[in-house]
Amino acid sequence: MKTILVTGGAGYVGSHCCKEFAAQGWTVVVYDNLYRGWRDMVRWGELIEGDILDTAALQAAIARVKPDVLAHFAALTYVGESVEQPGLYYRNNTLGAFNILEALRTAGVDKMIFSSTAATYGEPLESPMPETHRQLPINPYGRSKLMVERMMADYADAYGLRFASLRYFNAAGASPDGDIGERHEPETHVIPLAARGALRDDYQFTIFGDDFDTRDGTCVRDYVHVSDLGRAHAAAADYLMKGGAAQFFNLGTGEGTTVKEIADAIEKVSGKPLPRTVGPRRAGDPAVLVASNARAQEVLGWTPTQSSIDEIVRTAWAWARKDAGCAGG
Ligand code: UFG
Repeated sequence: MKTILVTGGAGYVGSHCCKEFAAQGWTVVVYDNLYRGWRDMVRWGELIEGDILDTAALQAAIARVKPDVLAHFAALTYVGESVEQPGLYYRNNTLGAFNILEALRTAGVDKMIFSSTAATYGEPLESPMPETHRQLPINPYGRSKLMVERMMADYADAYGLRFASLRYFNAAGASPDGDIGERHEPETHVIPLAARGALRDDYQFTIFGDDFDTRDGTCVRDYVHVSDLGRAHAAAADYLMKGGAAQFFNLGTGEGTTVKEIADAIEKVSGKPLPRTVGPRRAGDPAVLVASNARAQEVLGWTPTQSSIDEIVRTAWAWARKDAGCAGG
């Protein structure tokens, strides 16, 4: 029996990955403080309520569960908040990950999957971006995650840690059978907010800038379905179990979609008009962020299969309706 301990398994990406781990035969145990995670998203294993900043509780959980692999999702993810409260990000994201590295080393667990991000790159110099692209993050969120990548590499060299650091581009969509989906409080992400604009008369969807140097003037992002992310994590866990070396992987599709195209796709799937206004650019938004996923394809054998914009928006819309309590789900 193979066991995976999942910090942050009550969050958006973490919960979808738990579902996939369980489907692939893993015994899943979630470690989450429910600060921004949700109890009802923990459906594929035991929940240990605990904080990664509580080193004694973290060590006790690792000692009891004796995981083959630890998958670390627990982190704060708002760029704007990280600019206003960097301490919060360095404490939760950087110190929290350090606590995990130390706890794994003490317990003799040598395999770890880490939720990294495209935000570790900063301004793109080329598109699509390979993993070897310069990493020069432009906000504390990106820096808080990049430091973890550097720590993991040092722990790999010194202590033999084997890790898969997975740099997500734009995680999106919801589980196709509708059991879990994206729920953030507050919500800042474009697809749930566009869905909100179509669902509610009292919410006005705003496009943050339409004067970028892109095909329609709005920002281009590489949206990857959260179920595809789940399969990538399961593939990464297998890779580590088979002796795979420490490595960094982009998780994206290689295709970009503009904000206007997202808004049009929501209109199409909902059958409702999506009124939109154009506002100023959001600070720190690069015009284009698109992944090269060649390494994940080659090394992990992973190809996204559910990440067409139609599929992403269809599942996100169904979930948004269900989570807002609309009849019929
Ligand atoms: N956008 C709008 N209107 C909105 C919300 C977003 O136009 O109401 C635009 C943004 O300006 C951006 C695009 O939609 O151009 C996507 O924005 P999201 O906030 O959905 O996603 P980001 O690309 O900003 O953020 C994602 C992850 C972050 C991560 C970041 C950088 O959610 O955690 O990528 O990799 F830090």
